[in-house]
Amino acid sequence: MDRDQLLRELTEFLRIPSISTLPAHNQDCRAAAEWVAAGLRRIGCHDIQFLGSETHPVVWGKGPDVPGAPTLLIYGHYDVQPPDPLAEWTTPPFEPTQRDGRIYARGAADDKGQVFCLLQAIAASRRPAVNFRFLIEGEEEYGSKVLFDLLKREPQRVRADAALVADMSYIAPGWPAVYTTLRGLCYAEITVRTSKTDLHSGEYGGAAPNAHEELSRLLGRLKGADGKINIPGFYGPVKRPSKTELAAWKKLPFNEKDFLNKRVQGKALVGLKKASVLERLWALPTFEIHGILGGFTGDGAKTVIPAEATAKVSLRLVPNQKLATVEGQLVAAVKRFAPTYVTASVRFLHGADPAQIKIDTPAFQLLDQAFKEVTGRGTVPARAGGSIPVVPALASAGAPVILTGIGLPDDRLHAPNEKLELKQLWDGIEVFRRFYELLGNGRT
Ligand code: BES
Ligand code: MN
Ligand code: MN
Repeated sequence: MDRDQLLRELTEFLRIPSISTLPAHNQDCRAAAEWVAAGLRRIGCHDIQFLGSETHPVVWGKGPDVPGAPTLLIYGHYDVQPPDPLAEWTTPPFEPTQRDGRIYARGAADDKGQVFCLLQAIAASRRPAVNFRFLIEGEEEYGSKVLFDLLKREPQRVRADAALVADMSYIAPGWPAVYTTLRGLCYAEITVRTSKTDLHSGEYGGAAPNAHEELSRLLGRLKGADGKINIPGFYGPVKRPSKTELAAWKKLPFNEKDFLNKRVQGKALVGLKKASVLERLWALPTFEIHGILGGFTGDGAKTVIPAEATAKVSLRLVPNQKLATVEGQLVAAVKRFAPTYVTASVRFLHGADPAQIKIDTPAFQLLDQAFKEVTGRGTVPARAGGSIPVVPALASAGAPVILTGIGLPDDRLHAPNEKLELKQLWDGIEVFRRFYELLGNGRT
């Protein structure tokens, strides 16, 4: 199909503001699911179903049946993260725009552009001898509850010879990758209450406790200026990468200075000094504050002592850490670090266990070959800093889960001006087309 037509189709998909965390966008999530279903129908799928939710359904589908051929489960998500701060977008997040060989929009790389790529690769191939199965969900960015519940009820949905997840990126331009670990996540709100109501800061200031002050101090105790997370027991199960793995990372096209200057674009990197930057990003757990609510933040000035303050935080977890354990550790640490005169509570919003993937099965070799043929370089093993909650469940039926992607590290996922390079998209369609073909050929 001609590329302009493909870009028109992708643009339609990207126009839909399917922000799963905001209830105001429930209808948009549903509309994005409809787009996926129509996309599956266009490429000849049958048995298309909406599962588990009216507003954020998992879209299920099957490709043409090929008796005796391997089954490939394709996973992706049609939901996106909120686009704010809006003022920082050069063109609006849901008005996809092409500039300099890129398409800019929320979801361009994460994950609509990549879902589109996986589907177009099927359309572009000549009926590969593969039994395709699709699980395209609409709640990945909000913890994947609908899909988790579905797989609990119907675990056979993930029965396959391999699962393909293209929700990651190359590790550098020209360097495709497969990922051996994903970090888990524990997302929580920590709330501190210091008095029954807000108080005049002149009448009471100096003697009454201040919720924001207490919350700041609490957060400062949970993680020190040295980057160490001071939650008792938290680092217990964390293993340093082996010498071999650390040595392999030294050969990757990753440069700490470039990472600081071109990607972070800040003045210094932070974190545990004893660990390399890649180790901090890929193999160590994190504690991040996403936002702090409460008190007076409007225009002008108000002299008040806030009675309540809330921080949205998350911890990234690495292999061998367990979400359930970490939740308990966080609650215990908050109790321990908050002074007795404040009421501190923790509410968990969502979470995921970390994942570890063995990449020594044949399907990985076929993907490696496909990348080599199309882009001139095979895949390097890497680790991922991000999370995809459902990956451990996808692996539960024994299928190897191939974590890969066609984006680039500077695609600005979750941030203003997210983009996808069109060259990555066209190459990606070729790569997956070839991968499906190779997988089908090897069936006897
Ligand atoms: N595609 C990302 C995961 C990702 C990003 C993997 C970068 C590797 C590198 C995914 O859509 C994502 O953002 N997941 C969330 C999950 C969370 C909200 C439960 C994440 O990692 O924050
Ligand atoms: Mn994603
Ligand atoms: Mn994401």
